[in-house]
Amino acid sequence: MSELELTDKAALGSGADFWTTKAVGSVPALTLTDGPHGVRKQTGASDHLGLGGSEPATCFPPAVGLGQSWDPDLVHRVGEALGREARALGVDVLLGPGVNIKRDPRGGRNFEYYSEDPIVTGRLGAAWVRGVQSTGVGTSLKHFALNNAEHDRMRSSSDVDARPMREIYLRAFSHIVRSADPWTVMCSYNRINGTYASENHWLLTELLRDEWGFDGLVVSDWGAVSDRVRAVAAGLDLQMPGRGGSTDDQVVAAVGDGELDEAAVDRAARAVIDLAARTAAGRENRTAIDPERHHRLAREAAARSIVLLKNEGGLLPLDPARSVAVVGEFARQPRYQGGGSSHVNPTRLDVPVDEIRALGGQVTFTGGFRTDGSPGDPAEAVRAAADADAAVVFLGLAADQESEGFDRDHIELPDGQLELLNDILQAQPHTVVVLVHGGVLRLAPLDGVPAILDAALLGQAGGGAIADVLYGRTNPSGRLTETVPVRLQDTPAYLDFPGEHSHVRYGEGIYVGYRWYDARELDVTYPFGHGLSYTSFEHAGLVVSDDASEVRVEVTNSGTRSGRDVVQVYTSRRDSAVRRAPRELKGFAVTRELEPGESQTVTVTLDRDDLAYWDTRVGRWIVEPGEYTIEVGASSRDIRVTTTVELDGDDVQIPIDENSTLGEALAHPAVAQKLADLAGQNPMMSAGNDALGVDMVRMIASIPLGRLAGFGMSADDVAAIIAAGR
Ligand code: BGC
Repeated sequence: MSELELTDKAALGSGADFWTTKAVGSVPALTLTDGPHGVRKQTGASDHLGLGGSEPATCFPPAVGLGQSWDPDLVHRVGEALGREARALGVDVLLGPGVNIKRDPRGGRNFEYYSEDPIVTGRLGAAWVRGVQSTGVGTSLKHFALNNAEHDRMRSSSDVDARPMREIYLRAFSHIVRSADPWTVMCSYNRINGTYASENHWLLTELLRDEWGFDGLVVSDWGAVSDRVRAVAAGLDLQMPGRGGSTDDQVVAAVGDGELDEAAVDRAARAVIDLAARTAAGRENRTAIDPERHHRLAREAAARSIVLLKNEGGLLPLDPARSVAVVGEFARQPRYQGGGSSHVNPTRLDVPVDEIRALGGQVTFTGGFRTDGSPGDPAEAVRAAADADAAVVFLGLAADQESEGFDRDHIELPDGQLELLNDILQAQPHTVVVLVHGGVLRLAPLDGVPAILDAALLGQAGGGAIADVLYGRTNPSGRLTETVPVRLQDTPAYLDFPGEHSHVRYGEGIYVGYRWYDARELDVTYPFGHGLSYTSFEHAGLVVSDDASEVRVEVTNSGTRSGRDVVQVYTSRRDSAVRRAPRELKGFAVTRELEPGESQTVTVTLDRDDLAYWDTRVGRWIVEPGEYTIEVGASSRDIRVTTTVELDGDDVQIPIDENSTLGEALAHPAVAQKLADLAGQNPMMSAGNDALGVDMVRMIASIPLGRLAGFGMSADDVAAIIAAGR
């Protein structure tokens, strides 16, 4: 640092081109690239818009799929593999994980995010960061923050209150920064309560660095900087992509004019130098990867990401000795990842129908419809289904129906697909639907289907994974990370999405996802956390430590096949002083593969901070004292065992002033005593309940102390009451 001129330091803080930083003095150029479910290392020069082809890389399941595994260990292993590939391709920082909350099912980029729940998102995002960084490659936690829609994303302001901001939208970021130490954080395009994320001093400095202790580099999302000087002052270190050095000159000039403190430029330059040091070991260790091994891991991860939504009459797994009619173009032209910056050029691609043929006996294939939704050969598909012992129908959304850059305006499956499905159901009662999609779909029209696999987006090995689950080589253990609503009109942000005139009001507050459906007691098609298995599990012996930091439960495989269970721990706090969802997920764990009859005692650790609410009066996290219900369930709507625990909680002392109400004053012991002393001399406070025919204390409890002067109390008395509260 001491050898660098101001111009050098400014130069370090903006990219040389689309994907690299500048080499300055002994600081090498660094390469950053997408992320998050595969390495998108652009082929050819990196000085153009980054829209060209990319090197082949393993396409692992995007977050919408991988998240459904609920398995941090699996995500960690995927992260390691991604890190190895990034290193082999000379990439220093992989741009992920994406940990924004899925606020609305229409969000165009939901496929890149894990969940509607901050605990699932935080735990899995942290595992991804640890996995990648264990290989010497950096990560970029994105998109910080409140980037929950694509519509107008480069201008729109996410207008949100403090509680939902802290409890829902920042919780995963905070957990990952504190527990997994990502080397970079990417600030988002949007504004937050009116201020661009890239220029938001509170977000990038007071919260991220001062409160959470972040010691890495803040990089802009690509093109997110509107004013570099203001951004550097707010806490931005690296502007990407570079703008040919023009903003470096602005930074130098602003320091000269006294408009920008040079210390901010130093901080930014130091962050780039530190990042170069952190990634140095990885840069020197560019060993080749084994694509076959990574493909096998991609298949394992994909199979673990599939959710068995429904399985009436034990239709699944299929018997390989019986014939199957596979229908739907997605079985031949798989939809396996989302469109946009995360798009990976896969090393190979499993075709579902080929993989089904490899495991099954007699298998026919008919397109039925094209991937764009237009009809193909429906009559032939119905005939093939009728002639076979069972039908497997692939339904879903094509790549151009959902992608980065725009939101959906509905959550329906194409009509043509539903019509074909109904015709097949008439002809073949043994029909299994496999769903491929990035965002939530309305599934009420599939009520008559006996078996449904939710294959979300599964990456390049998804075809093999679907075959594995259809034939029972993998017993499904995926769980939904998002609620499937009965109708779009039931969703929490229905009236506030995607906002208007570049403002989105987060009017549903803390009631996001299942928190909303549960609080409103709305029916849902499939609840958050739902997912079936080919075996069954029993939960017993729930024990919670006195401080609620450890929840133990015994899980027994009570069925006839080996399988994994996901233990979900929810808490609730009845009669809370603040508004709360009826239950909130606070921890989870996946069992090992349990043989029939086998048991495992699973310990789930809860973080005390996760029991807290954000108290807007004191601007702090508060664990409310009192009784908490601890619930272990198979979804947010299927609670199996319950117990309670009494917690001491935190003391919130709200300073008493003339704006405090009489009721608040009475809750403060010293002030209450003073009030009692004075009450005898005050006609209103000493009046019996009969005087006005009401409970006097309740009636006057909302009067602020400063106004008591009009009700027979002297100004001196009021001052004495307030003084007692100091
Ligand atoms: C996306 C980021 C991505 C970046 C670089 C942006 O448009 O929002 O997620 O990492 O481009 O491709």
